[in-house]
Amino acid sequence: NWTPNSFVESTVSDLKEKIGDDKVILGLSGGVDSTVAGVLLHKAIGDNLHCIFVNNGLLRKDEFKSVLQQYEGMGLNVKGVDASERFLNALEGISDPETKRKTIGRVFIEVFDDEAAKVENAKWLAQGTIYPDVIESVSVNGGPSATIKSHHNVGGLPDFMKLQVVEPLRMIFKDEVRRVGASMGIDKELLGRHPFPGPGLAIRILGDITSEKVRILQEVDAIFINGLKEYGLYDKVWQAGAILLPVNSVGVMGDERTYEKVVALRAVESTDGMTADWVNLPYEFLQNISNKIINNVKGVNRVVYDISSKPPATIEWE
Ligand code: XMP
Repeated sequence: NWTPNSFVESTVSDLKEKIGDDKVILGLSGGVDSTVAGVLLHKAIGDNLHCIFVNNGLLRKDEFKSVLQQYEGMGLNVKGVDASERFLNALEGISDPETKRKTIGRVFIEVFDDEAAKVENAKWLAQGTIYPDVIESVSVNGGPSATIKSHHNVGGLPDFMKLQVVEPLRMIFKDEVRRVGASMGIDKELLGRHPFPGPGLAIRILGDITSEKVRILQEVDAIFINGLKEYGLYDKVWQAGAILLPVNSVGVMGDERTYEKVVALRAVESTDGMTADWVNLPYEFLQNISNKIINNVKGVNRVVYDISSKPPATIEWE
């Protein structure tokens, strides 16, 4: 009979036995899966768990700082690595979606590899892989469905991959991961966070990426997400975010003609991300958010709402 408590108890004892006094490295992303995996491992082996949290410069506004503080508050042995510039330099001039993903995946591995090498005598690499990831990577690699979008989480084999892999959440689903997290006292807000793609805002900035575009999108995204929370809509939506389009449109501000960027808002309902429907957000909410964005974010003069479902559209635009 599966309960979160019994899962925690048996997993912690299995991890203790399997890992003993070895050191383990874990990449934290700020998401639910890696966080729950981290807390489970920390329960089992304490500070022999070495966590690495990389800022790729493509996170949500203020997210690196706030999530790092949250991790420290949870007692995790975590090192925050700000590699923003390294990522942005590598991405300079790249517009092709797949090249962006591959570049981010490559730089992530380089950064992670450098950091992992600093942990002496590490024997294990922990991952927050959950059951649907296991199934999906099998079908992507083995099935007739060629890679539609390459996920950077499932990449090549760098040095740290010589470590043995431990995946405590490999057999459970997302809702179970959340229940396990809650039973260990992880903050409800963290457990209820929307999914966020590994390549981050890079795949929501269509065309090439600059630090100015990242800044604009971070502002827009923060207004949208905070608005969803204020209106009590955040938990009713499976995932939401904003997309910066590579289009300027004409507008008017006072007596001046403007020629500025267009952003799209996207909010979807889904259970697993494989299919998704756009959410019928209240007009009043959309009106309020649109005004807030246009009045507060310099460089944006138009907001549109994405009313496409998956399939045939995907959740992300790239
Ligand atoms: P799509 O756009 O394929 O997205 O409908 C489905 C879900 O997957 C997320 N996603 C990613 N997650 N690395 C990730 O960790 C990635 O490269 C990636 N690409 C898409 C997306 O945010 C949505 O939740």
